[in-house]
Amino acid sequence: MRIPFHKPYFSEAERRYLLAALEEGYWGGGRWVAHLEAYLKSLYGREVVLVSSGTAALHLALALLLGDKGGEVIVPTWTFTATAAAVVHAGGSPVLADVGPSLHLTAETVEAVRTPRTRGVVVVHYAGVPAPMEELMTLCERHGWWLVEDACHALPAWYAGKLCGTFGSAAVLSFHATKPIAAGQGGALLLESAELAQRARLLRRNGLYRPLDAPWDYTVEALGWNYMPSDFQAAVALAQAERLLAVRAQRRHLAEAYAQQLKGEELIQLYPFHEPSSSAYHLLPAFIQGLRVESRKALFHWMREEGVELALHYKPLHLQPAYRAFWRPGQSFPQAEAIWPTIFSLPLWPGLSTEAVEFVTSRLKAWVRQAPL
Ligand SMILES: Cc1ncc(COP(=O)(O)O)c(C=O)c1O
Repeated sequence: MRIPFHKPYFSEAERRYLLAALEEGYWGGGRWVAHLEAYLKSLYGREVVLVSSGTAALHLALALLLGDKGGEVIVPTWTFTATAAAVVHAGGSPVLADVGPSLHLTAETVEAVRTPRTRGVVVVHYAGVPAPMEELMTLCERHGWWLVEDACHALPAWYAGKLCGTFGSAAVLSFHATKPIAAGQGGALLLESAELAQRARLLRRNGLYRPLDAPWDYTVEALGWNYMPSDFQAAVALAQAERLLAVRAQRRHLAEAYAQQLKGEELIQLYPFHEPSSSAYHLLPAFIQGLRVESRKALFHWMREEGVELALHYKPLHLQPAYRAFWRPGQSFPQAEAIWPTIFSLPLWPGLSTEAVEFVTSRLKAWVRQAPL
């Protein structure tokens, strides 16, 4: 058996929508982009600006919120690089914070790094499990900071019954090939403010304004970027979005099958999905007690030879060379450092069979029985 870490899936709807977009002939991002924006708006009740990636959405969100004043933005060290790099590209300074045991920012880890220059926080709903929004929202309100939700894994997830992506001033989604809504590449910016959404639309199209009654004419009103997605991306993402809940149910079923197979294994633990009804089940991180960076490398190699691809989410940002400059003297990240050598992600994608789950877990158990940890 060969089990990739991820495999995209599609139905007849993706094929139909894609072909329609192809034959309609605009391609550059028009009708299908508008369709998907309307669909997501009906789901989230927020202004939706579709863009070319989650990274682009983060950059736009931070550019809108930081403006030209700069300032510090607190981000978790436990995330994908785009969460923090976007702060720098938008003229701010990322301040890395440790995470709590669930690998999310907490009020305590954020408090520990705040300064008078802090202007906002980017929270990541890691693996699709909601971050502790109540304490984070309370903290942001108390200090007058804005909050951005990096909801790239949370499609869809709920915190206390409310959709992740509807808490902060802005939220970002990714439609990268591995995400629950996959379009190859793509992303969306969700905004509370209609005014900011209008500005975001201007900036994603190189800052160009074209009057409706004279579309040949244009003015460059702002210095923007080309973050427009194509109609092909939007067509595929729309078909995927329409099946979002069914796909989440499939992912949940597989996560439960993994949990069942690993029940009673003392050394192997799955990421704690504390409230099962709320997660998007985007990633399925697992931990092996006593694992070290070197032994984990051996695990990755061995599993690969057995036909199973694992992945790593994440090597904390403060351990990456590009973030050395943002590591403050004396700052430590005890929680992230204790967890990261022991963690790896298991394959979890719609279309993965329960037999495949049994195979993955049987290989994992076999490795643990014979490996010097
Ligand atoms: C937490 C997180 N933030 C941001 C991104 C960036 O999204 P994209 O790959 O669409 O640019 C990703 C994608 O992997 C992610 O996992």
